[in-house]
Amino acid sequence: MTEPTVVVAGVGRFGALHVRVWTEAGARVVGLVDPDTGRLAEVAAAHRVEQIGTDLADLLDRTRPDIVVIASDEASHAGLAVTALAAGCHVFVEKPLALSAADAWRIADVAQTHRRQVVVGHISRFTAQMTRMRAAVDRGAVGTLCALRLRRDFSRAWFLSFGDRVDPVWESGIHDIDLAISFARTRVRRVVAMRSAAAGAAAPSVVTALLEFDSGVIATVESAWLVPATAPGTLDDGPLALDGAIVGEAEVLGLAGILKQRLVSDSLVEWTAAGTQVPDLSLWPEEDGRVGGALRREIGYALAVFTGERQPDVMPVEQACWGVEVAEAIIESLRTGAPVEPAGR
Ligand SMILES: NC(=O)c1ccc[n+]([C@@H]2O[C@H](COP(=O)([O-])OP(=O)(O)OC[C@H]3O[C@@H](n4cnc5c(N)ncnc54)[C@H](O)[C@@H]3O)[C@@H](O)[C@H]2O)c1
Repeated sequence: MTEPTVVVAGVGRFGALHVRVWTEAGARVVGLVDPDTGRLAEVAAAHRVEQIGTDLADLLDRTRPDIVVIASDEASHAGLAVTALAAGCHVFVEKPLALSAADAWRIADVAQTHRRQVVVGHISRFTAQMTRMRAAVDRGAVGTLCALRLRRDFSRAWFLSFGDRVDPVWESGIHDIDLAISFARTRVRRVVAMRSAAAGAAAPSVVTALLEFDSGVIATVESAWLVPATAPGTLDDGPLALDGAIVGEAEVLGLAGILKQRLVSDSLVEWTAAGTQVPDLSLWPEEDGRVGGALRREIGYALAVFTGERQPDVMPVEQACWGVEVAEAIIESLRTGAPVEPAGR
């Protein structure tokens, strides 16, 4: 592939950012798909993409791309991924890979049948901090891994604008489920989870899950969509322009050491007429007129995997399938109140 060609499926907030980042990474975006034709025309004009459509299979027939990037609503990921793989394309799919373990493994199987690669957009694996922490764990810097603590809170306002279209476990929790898997590197054998009853069914979700890995490592994964509008913004004036805040922390505990990380640090604080900002500089910061950070690293990695320049070692698709199994088990534990063993295959 000299200049890999890409079709982007789903050009909402994050899909439009993908069009920009894949172009900046040296790919050529040849087509866009979205059922929202107004949005489709707007993004196509902004990025000078000629081929557009509302049906992926039809657009793939017309454009024959090397890669399909899926950044649509979560419920459509599995169907679009299977369509793209069956058409012979490599697939980059935003998190979550699918909304059921059966669909996730089906995607992995179709990819294998067609000898194509699937990279899942678990962006947190690609932050500089997580990359360094994984390397430290791998070289034994914390000794035997014992426990992981992962927490991620989102703005309360986001819950009603997009957080409630699927269970928030698929939206925010899946990031930390995946990070736990990226450190433990084994399957989860047991899950128990609780949702705050005080929050009420229609209110922002507050979930705590406890995971036990096959290796004996335990992890807590917590998420609350309760960050008030008065909290300093972290993403307001970045390329995604999402008013609000993501606040998260990660801890890795081993017999010989502990690593601690803040997803969004307060290393830069801005008090201006726009209010107080603590801009995130790890996920998708503007750097020299381009999108940098974890998103650029993630797309660079995916391109290298798709062109055969490197192995899919940072984000193997089977680990994304394990993450979907765990999310499914957490939702089942929330429903029943009992511990659940994730469905193996
Ligand atoms: N990695 C991250 O940090 C991160 C950040 C934001 C969003 N995301 C993920 O990106 C995806 C999109 O999120 P968003 O915030 O951009 O949502 P959005 O609602 O802004 O955009 C979704 C778009 O997908 C379109 N769509 C729906 N069904 C489709 C289909 N069958 N084919 C093609 N397009 C379809 C919608 O019309 C809409 O334009 C989600 O999976 C979300 O979880 C990831």
